[in-house]
Amino acid sequence: MYKAIIAGLGKYLPDNVVTNNDLKKVMDTSDEWIVERTGIQERRHIIKGSGDTTASMGAEAAKIALERAQCAAEEVDLILFATLSPDYYFPGSGVLVQELLAIPDCPAMDIRNQCSGFVYALATADQFVRTGMYKNVLVIGSENHSGGLDMSTRGRNVSVIFGDGAGAALVTRYDGNDDRGILSSHLHSEGKHAEELSLIGPSTNRWVPQIMEENDPEDTSYYPYMNGQFVFKNAVVRFSEVIKEGLLQNQLAAEDIKLLVPHQANLRIAQFVQKKFGLGEDQVYNNIQRYGNTTAASIPIALTEAWEEGRVKQGDLVVLAAFGSGFTWGSSIIKW
Ligand code: ACO
Repeated sequence: MYKAIIAGLGKYLPDNVVTNNDLKKVMDTSDEWIVERTGIQERRHIIKGSGDTTASMGAEAAKIALERAQCAAEEVDLILFATLSPDYYFPGSGVLVQELLAIPDCPAMDIRNQCSGFVYALATADQFVRTGMYKNVLVIGSENHSGGLDMSTRGRNVSVIFGDGAGAALVTRYDGNDDRGILSSHLHSEGKHAEELSLIGPSTNRWVPQIMEENDPEDTSYYPYMNGQFVFKNAVVRFSEVIKEGLLQNQLAAEDIKLLVPHQANLRIAQFVQKKFGLGEDQVYNNIQRYGNTTAASIPIALTEAWEEGRVKQGDLVVLAAFGSGFTWGSSIIKW
């Protein structure tokens, strides 16, 4: 068995900053409500016509990750692209990134696990590297939410939360004799709650012609739906469980954690988890205040920023944890 490490990280955020006060211009909301419930102060939204897409943002983040890992595009053996907002219904965005980065003919695969997408993709990359099948796996999380949100008062409980952006990591085989590496991954899902956080149409259950034929102004099936309080209650339990599971498997304790990078779902959820494990401010990384919830991109964006700020160094114990639509949840325990 080989070991895998994250050798390079990158991120890309669209320039366009949308503050809570900007949202007030299009819906009945307030800075106070959003900050108190979610911690979010601003997020990025792609400007239509700017050329930014889910794949292009992912490619920009990937370029930085590859450069930092000193890995040439042609050395990438596999692309894993995590998103819930792909450029096309099909094909996936992984192949689009392959084309944008001029990576010859390696396999490219999309991972459909929403907020847990990056943790699922990282676990998948780790398995391919461990078995020796691949040496360099490019893992990308990217989301273009803004174009598909209901930006009226009707959709405000969801639309104030989400932002656009991308993050990427180059996962590579590590041949050193020390204890560096992705130590373990822990993945779960519970499909009985699939519809509590979902976007159900357009889909094969509800094709576009049907939606057009019905022409129902009250139809919200093509906007994301979230049962906020139910999601919140499940998130705090599952985040805690899956972090604990990872620590136990590696015979580690909360005080061993150098940095916890939780999926940036909601600052209140991260604070609950922080308190539950008795972690200090310096042991948890949050940037939802500036970017909102960027779903599969949130962990790689946060991890990249933490690394850029010098908060992730070789030998550190880094824990990633996510929970989201599906429901799906997971954690990665990494000796950096
Ligand atoms: N601005 C102002 N008022 C609002 C807004 C808004 N943006 N959204 C909802 N409201 C109103 C509602 O209409 C409601 O008004 P009413 O009492 O007159 O009916 C009131 O605020 C309370 O609404 P709730 O939906 O009950 O608000 P809640 O306190 O549950 O907070 C929130 C909503 C923030 C979404 C919360 O449920 C939450 O954090 N849930 C966790 C879900 C989450 O974090 N999702 C992130 C994506 S999923 C993931 O990444 C895991």
